[in-house]
Amino acid sequence: MQSEFKQMTDDILNHPLFMETRCLMHHGNGNTVYDHSLSTAITAYSIAKKLGLSQDMVESTTRAALLHDFFGYDWHDDWFKDYLSQYSGWQRFKRMHAFVHGDIAAERAKEHFNLTDRQIKAIKSHMFPVCFSFPTNCEAWIVTLSDKIVASREIGQTVGSYVSTLFKKLVTPK
Ligand SMILES: [Fe+2]
Ligand SMILES: [Fe+2]
Repeated sequence: MQSEFKQMTDDILNHPLFMETRCLMHHGNGNTVYDHSLSTAITAYSIAKKLGLSQDMVESTTRAALLHDFFGYDWHDDWFKDYLSQYSGWQRFKRMHAFVHGDIAAERAKEHFNLTDRQIKAIKSHMFPVCFSFPTNCEAWIVTLSDKIVASREIGQTVGSYVSTLFKKLVTPK
C-alpha cells in the first residue's frame, strides 16, 4: 500500500504550497490541515481499493481527497473573523468557512495541479450535506465519506482531550 500511495501522492505532498498546510490549524488539539488531508487521502485510498475500483479511479479519488481542503488560509485567524464581521444575516452565513472552502480549495488546486473535472467536482462537494453541492460521481462520494470519517475522529479526539483536562482539574486536590 505504502509505495503505491506514495507514488500517487508524492508530487502533491512535496509541493511547497501543500507543505504550508502543516502550519494551518484545523480540528484542534494540534491537528493541522496537512494531517487531516493526509488521513483523508489514506482513508479514501483504502475505500477505493476495497470497492475494487480501477487503478485510475483509485488514483483520481486519492488525489482529490488529498486536495479537498487545499483552501490555503487559517480559518481561525482574526482576519477571517474580521472579514466575516463586515457582513450580517444571510450575507454573513453564506460566507462562512464551512460553505465556501470547497469551492476555494477546488479553484486553488486547479491552478497548481492537473485535475480532471470529476476531481474538481469531488473537492467542491466534499462538505455535503453541509454545503448545497451534491456529490455526483464515485470520487466525490468517497471523498465526502472519508472526510466525515476522519473529521469525526479528529474532533472526537479534541473533545476527549478537553474533557480529560477539565476532569483532571476538577479532581486534583488544591
Ligand atoms: Fe473541508
Ligand atoms: Fe476536510
